[in-house]
Amino acid sequence: MSTGIIEVPGMIALRIIRWTAWALVAVVLFGAGAIALGWLQVEKLGLRAQPTVTSSGVPAVGGPFSLINHRGERVTQDTFKGKPTAYFFGFTHCPEVCPTTLFEMSQHLKELGQDADRLNVVFVTVDPERDTPELLKTYLESFDPRIVALTGTPEEMAAAAKAFRIGYRKVPTEGGDYMMDHTSSVIVTDAKGDLVSLIDYHEDEATALAKLKKALAL
Ligand code: NI
Repeated sequence: MSTGIIEVPGMIALRIIRWTAWALVAVVLFGAGAIALGWLQVEKLGLRAQPTVTSSGVPAVGGPFSLINHRGERVTQDTFKGKPTAYFFGFTHCPEVCPTTLFEMSQHLKELGQDADRLNVVFVTVDPERDTPELLKTYLESFDPRIVALTGTPEEMAAAAKAFRIGYRKVPTEGGDYMMDHTSSVIVTDAKGDLVSLIDYHEDEATALAKLKKALAL
């Protein structure tokens, strides 16, 4: 049994609970909205922070580097912009993969004819301790004269390898000598330095050539 005296404070209490509940809902909704806007903002900033990610979802490969070419000149990523570029990382003491790749790249340049002059082919050493500009110059004499070779300090080389997502490590051999394990893909970029495709070691001639032609056609 309820009387008016008891009922009125009860209704007031109920109203206070309802208002408090609505206020809480409003706070939660506002908070969720603010978080959602924050996420959108973060996403936008994230995209701006990675300008090399293309709409096709190609991962960012390549980036700033500063090295010395086989003529002893300082070069950067900008040196090779304006033309598509095929980058290959290796070392002159390599018994098979590097000479084979550079021989095949020389063949591709020959196949491309006049178009070859619109393509940079860059060999970057992962063994700067032994691969001086002078040694690289001598090494390149076995391949197409348009191929450029780069070296630098171990730190400069490490930064370039990291930018191109190239893995490498020193492997000691008998007699205190060493070999270098290294990623053997050729990285093909467009004239702006953005990744177009990768040419794998032992990829057939026609496929490799098609990839270079694709970069030249962009
Ligand atoms: Ni090699």
